[in-house]
Amino acid sequence: MTDSTSLMQLENDFGAHNYHPLPVVLERGEGVFVWDCEGKKYFDFLSAYSAVNQGHCHPKIINALINQSKKLTLTSRAFYNSALGPYEKFICDLFDYDKVLPMNTGVEGGETANKLARKWGYLKKGIPENKARIIFAKGNFWGRTLAAISSSDDPLSFKDFGPYMPGYDLIPYNDLEALETELKDFNVAAFMVEPIQGEAGVVVPDDGYLEGVRRLCDKYNVLFIADEVQTGIGRTGKLLASDYENAKPDILILGKALSGGVFPVSAVLANNEVMMCIKAGEHGSTFGGNPLACAVAKAALEVIIEEDLAENAYNLGEYFRAELNKFIKDSPIVKLVRGKGLLNAIVINDTEESKTAWNICLEMKNNGLLAKPTHGNIIRFAPPLTITRNQLDDCIKIIIDTLKGYKLG
Ligand SMILES: Cc1ncc(COP(=O)(O)O)c(C=O)c1O
Repeated sequence: MTDSTSLMQLENDFGAHNYHPLPVVLERGEGVFVWDCEGKKYFDFLSAYSAVNQGHCHPKIINALINQSKKLTLTSRAFYNSALGPYEKFICDLFDYDKVLPMNTGVEGGETANKLARKWGYLKKGIPENKARIIFAKGNFWGRTLAAISSSDDPLSFKDFGPYMPGYDLIPYNDLEALETELKDFNVAAFMVEPIQGEAGVVVPDDGYLEGVRRLCDKYNVLFIADEVQTGIGRTGKLLASDYENAKPDILILGKALSGGVFPVSAVLANNEVMMCIKAGEHGSTFGGNPLACAVAKAALEVIIEEDLAENAYNLGEYFRAELNKFIKDSPIVKLVRGKGLLNAIVINDTEESKTAWNICLEMKNNGLLAKPTHGNIIRFAPPLTITRNQLDDCIKIIIDTLKGYKLG
């Protein structure tokens, strides 16, 4: 069974129904393109939720994977391995932190950051036992574990999965006054926030927000945790989205594009004051820091630097928004385009519960471009950062032609 219809049926019959994919079965990817089982070619405008910033099957990353996989793939952390130290030094130098703690998925990175913050809160700040609080912004998304859904205000994430993790509280995003009110409580160990809220629909805070977060966290001795799992590694036009402001986080969480989409690699970076709070045996993962991950992640980061992908994202992102803005001036369908670098979204003139974004995505699929709604009225556009200006022009044409041809019901 190799045709798309039979393969979708197999997933439907034997896989849990915890996703609602667009009806396309992908078989091959190269750069900004993916192909379905019938050989139809598409522009990938999701990049696996920004994990494939370097483009599909980037030769340098795949070579690193092949070479390392022939030598050694997993030792566990019961022993040292020859790939881990060089990778750790490389990533710490690149992001300017003392230490890194390697994990696998993004959500594990978030869990790790939360544990680190609590430990620091007890050992360094002097928060009384079991009283530590972590503050999050409404609209946050950092994965699907019980801790992650405990900080979510999206019923789809948390409803019927309780009881929830205590010590978590929510404030509005992009609201420094609300943050200051919470940080006055001595028991607050950390504020964890995405520099741009990806899953919420690419919500960009005001300029100065992150700098304000940094200032308030300093003032009240609270850790600033930046979840850059989606915004990091060049996606928003800088290596990190927090690089746009003078807002270096105390704890930085990376994932997704840290492996160029090859397999799950995440990392938590911090300075010694925070990272050395965790002692041997207090945290870890069988696969975290495995040699294959180290080789792949080092290559994936090198590609971002060598190919100036953050700069490409910056320039083409400006161009993309400018072109779409010209179109939406007279469009009855699109209200708004927003984003930074190549992390963008359009907001459609319809309700959050509508099917419009989904239907437009189906039409774009038919026209050769794959994107996915974040809500009933929001579509995220996040192509691989290797995209060229000519390719982007082709994509803009597909998007605009599709929107022009779409009639709101
Ligand atoms: C900002 C952010 N943090 C964390 C995660 C979780 O990453 P993962 O799905 O690899 O666990 C995501 C996933 O979309 C994310 O967007």
